[in-house]
Amino acid sequence: MKHNNFPIGFLDSGVGGLTVVNELLKLNNKENIFFIGDQKNAPYGTKKIKEIESLVQQDINFLLKHNVKAIVMACNTASAVYINKARSYLSIPVIGMIDSGAVSASKVTLTKRIGVIATSATVNQHSYQKAITALIPDAQIFELSCSEFVPLIEENADINQIRSIVSKKLSYFDDKSIDCLVLGCTHFPIIKNVISDCINSNIEIVNPAIEVIRKLMDILTEEELLSNIKKHDYFYTTYDNGVMNKLAYKLFHRQVKIKVIGNE
Ligand code: DGL
Repeated sequence: MKHNNFPIGFLDSGVGGLTVVNELLKLNNKENIFFIGDQKNAPYGTKKIKEIESLVQQDINFLLKHNVKAIVMACNTASAVYINKARSYLSIPVIGMIDSGAVSASKVTLTKRIGVIATSATVNQHSYQKAITALIPDAQIFELSCSEFVPLIEENADINQIRSIVSKKLSYFDDKSIDCLVLGCTHFPIIKNVISDCINSNIEIVNPAIEVIRKLMDILTEEELLSNIKKHDYFYTTYDNGVMNKLAYKLFHRQVKIKVIGNE
């Protein structure tokens, strides 16, 4: 049986994954989306590896139950910790953030001095360092854990509070002479304007999601899995505090129905 009209599964610890979904929606094609944001357990990036693994495993099981044809780990933390394991037992395509982020950074950098902001789990694994130096062996990578940005975004904190925290944190890059900064957490594009105000204006900001969706479409094309009927997009959360709804409206310019798992 051909699975091409089955949805593409997206997972994240919370609302950040919507920034990846948004890059797919911008293409305005016939793909159907099935998104799970595990807001009840966010943030993932400060948890122990074993715990992250078991949460991501649960997210994957939920997506599989709904017959997805491919999985996008719209979460750098999940990609850093679990993508190899997921690929080892899943027979559908699994696309992660890190390799695509590395490809994007390698296309942008001229000086080979690259900054990465991500969660503690992603930084501790040095996933970006490894992926970028696999492409540019003499690149200098400056990885900075910014896990504290995630709960601020999940709770829709006051923008001035966010600005003051981001500005202090990103001053780390003041003397690093980087020419690009990778947003190595899918929550960060939501505060891209704040980030861009807090760094030197000639530093290019890299959002890995654009390359992730390009890669996803290449894989679906190669595997003859492109959808030809747009049916419905589904958005699920494990805890609804209203933030996912607001963000979806802001990004997609339309109201989407967010369902809470358990109240399907
Ligand atoms: N959005 C996720 C990421 O890309 C995880 C953030 C978190 O839950 O700590 O890393």
